[in-house]
Amino acid sequence: MPTLAFQPNETVSILFEGASVLVPSGITVAAAVMLAGSSHIRTTPISEEERAPFCHMGVCFECLVEIDGTPNMQGCLITVEDGMNIKRQLGAPKITSCQE
Ligand code: FES
Repeated sequence: MPTLAFQPNETVSILFEGASVLVPSGITVAAAVMLAGSSHIRTTPISEEERAPFCHMGVCFECLVEIDGTPNMQGCLITVEDGMNIKRQLGAPKITSCQE
């Protein structure tokens, strides 16, 4: 059976849950989290069930993640960048009011 020999030319350094991880440049945040060895990228708001990216094309929303402090980002649609701080989205993020 043929295998795909993926050898990235460049890597970027990201933080995932506070740990520094080197990943190939050009991949998505969702793929990077999986490469980092994580079994899940978020938990559900009610049952706190662990969820992982599923469709990798922006349809299922199973890849919601916090990137650089911004919650509800679809990890499968965002390319990793050097220095990105990525955290699992645990439950539903708090909604902050725009009104003072
Ligand atoms: S994995 Fe389905 S929307 Fe991102």
